[in-house]
Amino acid sequence: MTSTESRIAIVGAGAFGLSTALHLAKTGYRNVTVFDYQPYDINAYNSDEGCDSASSDVNKIYRCSYGHEVEYQDLAFSGRPVWLEWNEMISSTSPEDLPQGLTPDTKLFVDCGLLRFSMESELSQYDKDCLEELEKAGLRHWQHIVGDERDMKRLKERIAEHSDEKWDTRLSLARSFQEGKLASFLDISAGLTYADKACIWVRYLCEKAGVKFVLGQKEGKLENLIINGAGYSKKIKGLETADGKEHFADVTIVACGGWTPSVVQDVNGILQTTAGSVITIQLPKERQDLWDKYSPDNFAVWSYGVTTQHGPEYGGFYGFPRTPEGKIKIGYRGRKWTNYQLNPKTNTRLSVPRTKYTEEKAVNLPKKAISNLKELVGDMFPDLKEVGITDTRMCWYTDSLDNSFVIDYVPGYNKTLFVASGGSGHGFKFLPVLGQHVVNQLEGKTDVFTPIWKWRFPTPGSDPNGLIEGEHSGRDLGELEMADKKDWQWK
Ligand SMILES: Cc1cc2nc3c(=O)[nH]c(=O)nc-3n(C[C@H](O)[C@H](O)[C@H](O)COP(=O)(O)OP(=O)(O)OC[C@H]3O[C@@H](n4cnc5c(N)ncnc54)[C@H](O)[C@@H]3O)c2cc1C
Ligand SMILES: *[C@@H]1O[C@H](CO)[C@@H](O)[C@H](O)[C@H]1NC(C)=O
Ligand SMILES: *[C@@H]1O[C@H](CO)[C@@H](O)[C@H](O)[C@H]1NC(C)=O
Repeated sequence: MTSTESRIAIVGAGAFGLSTALHLAKTGYRNVTVFDYQPYDINAYNSDEGCDSASSDVNKIYRCSYGHEVEYQDLAFSGRPVWLEWNEMISSTSPEDLPQGLTPDTKLFVDCGLLRFSMESELSQYDKDCLEELEKAGLRHWQHIVGDERDMKRLKERIAEHSDEKWDTRLSLARSFQEGKLASFLDISAGLTYADKACIWVRYLCEKAGVKFVLGQKEGKLENLIINGAGYSKKIKGLETADGKEHFADVTIVACGGWTPSVVQDVNGILQTTAGSVITIQLPKERQDLWDKYSPDNFAVWSYGVTTQHGPEYGGFYGFPRTPEGKIKIGYRGRKWTNYQLNPKTNTRLSVPRTKYTEEKAVNLPKKAISNLKELVGDMFPDLKEVGITDTRMCWYTDSLDNSFVIDYVPGYNKTLFVASGGSGHGFKFLPVLGQHVVNQLEGKTDVFTPIWKWRFPTPGSDPNGLIEGEHSGRDLGELEMADKKDWQWK
């Protein structure tokens, strides 16, 4: 167990590492150091400048609809005022006092709403569960089932009171997509976060609060954990970085996202690295009509068939309004990819991230992903077909066996090694508040997340979220046909 005097080393400066560092510093910890091989002080989490972590991305969905998982619902909602407060703090800071990459008009959170499409004419069971729990939590006034008389009346009243909020324009997709025959609801508490900018901001808050950062290809890269003793008295004493330096700590926290299973072998069977597929469509400068239509002022975040943990293969689509730079990002997670490789240290095969910037490169998506995305975009946004796909990316999740995070001490190291990972494709929105619960787990203070995030094993006979499918599951990059740039066009 830690106390404020403990020396804490955090490996990984993504959402999980940053939120942990921020809340440790807020709780009074004076000796917190974050390591990352990415020079985030220079490249500012920019995915065009060599960054490939899940958190280094243009945008992520913020939502608090979580089915029966009310702990996540409440946690997400508790972060909302902080997101809004951060927007305020940035806009009232003068440009020279802001970290590189932010200006006073940078917003971290945009409350443009989320339009959730079911795949049928009726809301899915998951959607119904969401609405039922939000009702119980007193949050139901934020959601509007499209076509429901009472909800639509409530939305009209809201529009009348807030003429700047264009909810009716944002609902036009519900009328055009499949001629309006799919059930959907609009959650106006939801929206998007600008993820890379949010990381810059939280890293800056951490530094202001006294957290140290060791960044860079050599100086910030964990090469080995320093193990002391063996058997029951085994402990981790800290880490050795790629420049050969040793850094000692009472507790070493591994928050390496998709790289976690290759850093801490013990997580295998609990966590697995998989990729989601993302395309971007850069709007041309001269198409002001499209810039206006897809602006967050007029357009909400949407999802289609993202309802249960295991949807159909043609499903699990989501997308965003254009960014200030005119990028439209659309994602697909109906099928998530693995990349099995031999780990030379342990001589075992496990899935590791493969991106534009890793040694072995991935410059495109599996053909299946491109063709599913093209079918969907062609159906949903015919006016984007002529623009075409302009970029693709595989974004690496750390899936846990039940899609809940894994935030606990690793057994067998006498509380010296701790993992904060398993984001499972939904962790980013918790950036403002996740860390307070990580501190509780570090200090051994039981809270609602202790049983949910604890170190755990698959229950016999259960389907642990694809983790036991292994290398020959039909979704490993080694066995899949990859797309090339020609496939990015519709014609
Ligand atoms: C396609 C996709 C879409 C998503 N959409 C959403 C969404 O809409 N909403 C939402 O809330 N969440 C979403 N998520 C989930 C969210 O992005 C993650 O849960 C979150 O960003 C994970 O943060 P992390 O800190 O665990 O990992 P990461 O952001 O991956 O960070 C890990 C860090 O560890 C560093 N590192 C790795 N190895 C080492 C080493 N040896 N030494 C030093 N440093 C190292 C890396 O450089 C990196 O900076 C999505 C994820 C993906 C992949
Ligand atoms: C933090 O720990 C390091 C490593 O043991 C030590 O050198 C340093 O003095 C400590 N700093 C504080 C503020 O306690
Ligand atoms: C674990 O560490 C504590 C305190 O450092 C020590 O008292 C205890 O004996 C250790 N346990 C084992 C099994 O080594």
